[in-house]
Amino acid sequence: MSENYNKHKIYERNGKTYAFSDASLQRIKEIIGRYPEAKQKSALIPVLHIAQEEFGGSLNADIMDYIAGLLNVKPIEVYEVATFYTQFYLDKVGKFVIEICQTGPCLSCGGDDMIDYLKEKLGIDVGETTADGLFTFKTVECLGACGYAPVMQVNTCFHQNLTKESIDNIIDLLRTQANEPKSNDDKWVEKFCLKK
Ligand code: FES
Repeated sequence: MSENYNKHKIYERNGKTYAFSDASLQRIKEIIGRYPEAKQKSALIPVLHIAQEEFGGSLNADIMDYIAGLLNVKPIEVYEVATFYTQFYLDKVGKFVIEICQTGPCLSCGGDDMIDYLKEKLGIDVGETTADGLFTFKTVECLGACGYAPVMQVNTCFHQNLTKESIDNIIDLLRTQANEPKSNDDKWVEKFCLKK
């Protein structure tokens, strides 16, 4: 496996170079090491999260091909996963990605009003990013927290029992954090790679 890391440590295509930092590469090795030999595909989701954070917040075909080489799987296997899960972004996104649940239980608890309120508050439609690059607004299917509806996720954080007032507070807080570096609590790489 280490030969594969060295072979795929740097990936070049179309004049662009992609390379995980040594720290991320170390984390990736640790994650892959959790699975039996030849089952490194099991590490795909956390590795995609690490790549997304390290390479500017979204994925493209070159990055996915790089990961395919690193994990020794076919590129299509990476594309299938990256295009299936809404947590992976194939287009540029804002610093804060707001994903609000649009499935029945949330809608029946006022989720549709929260969606409309967020559109109005942010001044954008679903799928768009604010002009200042801070917020991308998405609707997603069940976030698995139906008992706390309506629910939304902002990057890695869940916000439950939403009201217009709580949304105001969340957006205000995020705006104050806008110029701060992303905290480790807000990074998938930290969540997937628990420190020993
Ligand atoms: S329906 Fe919204 S979290 Fe399940």
